[in-house]
Amino acid sequence: MKKVQLTETVLRDANQSLMATRLPYADYEGILADMDKAGYYSVECWGGATFDSCLRYLGEDPWERLRGLRKNLPNTRLQMLLRGQNLLGYKHYHDDVVEKFIELSIKNGIDVIRIFDALNDFRNIATALEATKKYATEKTVASGCISYTQSPVHTVDKYIEMCKELKTMGFDTICLKDMAGTMSPYEAEHLIKGIKDAIGDMTLILHTHCTTGMAYMTITKAIESGIDVIDTATSCFSGGTSQPATETMFYALKQYGIETGLDEDVINKVNDYFKPIKQKYVDSGQLNPKSLATDAQALVYKVPGGMLSNMIANLTDMHAMDKFDAALAEIPAVRADLGYPPLVTPLSQMVGNQAVTNVLIGERYKNISKEVKNYIKGEYGIAPAPISQELLDKVLEGAEPVDCRVEDAKRTGDDFTAAKDALGDLCRCEEDVMSYICYPDQTMKFLKDRKAQEENEAVYTIEEM
Ligand code: CO
Repeated sequence: MKKVQLTETVLRDANQSLMATRLPYADYEGILADMDKAGYYSVECWGGATFDSCLRYLGEDPWERLRGLRKNLPNTRLQMLLRGQNLLGYKHYHDDVVEKFIELSIKNGIDVIRIFDALNDFRNIATALEATKKYATEKTVASGCISYTQSPVHTVDKYIEMCKELKTMGFDTICLKDMAGTMSPYEAEHLIKGIKDAIGDMTLILHTHCTTGMAYMTITKAIESGIDVIDTATSCFSGGTSQPATETMFYALKQYGIETGLDEDVINKVNDYFKPIKQKYVDSGQLNPKSLATDAQALVYKVPGGMLSNMIANLTDMHAMDKFDAALAEIPAVRADLGYPPLVTPLSQMVGNQAVTNVLIGERYKNISKEVKNYIKGEYGIAPAPISQELLDKVLEGAEPVDCRVEDAKRTGDDFTAAKDALGDLCRCEEDVMSYICYPDQTMKFLKDRKAQEENEAVYTIEEM
């Protein structure tokens, strides 16, 4: 019997896409024991923005969250999303930091590490792959991930070449990550057939979003074309900028006689559990029903949902929402000038902000952000297509572009010692050090709060006695 497995995303991407990753661990701990029996391929539950959100907004230690997930999902593959050399942040970290981060992720419970680079410059995921192999247990899966986008240089042949390269590098599985939900059924068919022919029986995964309304059609075509695993979200957290619904895909696949390995009662129970939680966040305004709608504009602008809401927030802050349509229309031009980077973190924010700046000033590239300058200099990696000569001249001023790997090697200093020194007695474990290296300000505040809270609790206990 043909088999297609499902990865459940409610604990990471679904709530990241719909409600800015503000789902606290305490909200879902009560359903984990059931989720463990559902029969998912994996549960995506960590990485992406969860780490930042834990420290910045939720007052949670992301490592403690991971250990809780591990404890309550003993039989399920725990999956995380990792931005290659950027880990869970927005800059390139040193190789030793990348290696340590992966060692600790596996040690605290992660099984599947899905690794991508925004530019598909695979030099930026090589260190993460090596570290994953080095610290792998028998359950560890290194998943090589391609940021999918459309442009004159992103052809089917180009994607097939990328997949062959990921296979040669030694990844266990390959994932196509369609963050903006712009992959059409037609594209899925040609792409997946071509890739499957090229990589043989290696597991191929499709990650897409419902943003433009195409996801169900695209996934159906993907299944017909040989996809092995799809990403879905429990139905009350599905649709809009999130993934297609788990139960719906289960129902459809069952009629085709395709085995998913899912337990129908359990996946329904999971959804029943999350319904009132979703309602709570709709009522509080945290989950804006707008993000559940279909937005075909992304087919034109290739803008992921998170980037759109970010632009709206920025323009509203500047009382310039009347410039929204102009800023949106500016994005394709900026993207072409920058060599068609896929619009995924951090490139999505950089391109979006540059488009807004161009429109607000009324002149292209009069003001270029530091990040975009660094991108043009080559610090993020190689652009998919040549960057416009005008921009190169303006930013490089005659200098040679840099090689991002050489830049990494050149940077000196011991991040671990510096972090330990900064944290002093707030630091208790390697995980604290790693959190600080990734998010210094947020971690410092979190660890100070933790200490103050424990001191209060200690006083309270003594009084009680
Ligand atoms: Co996603």
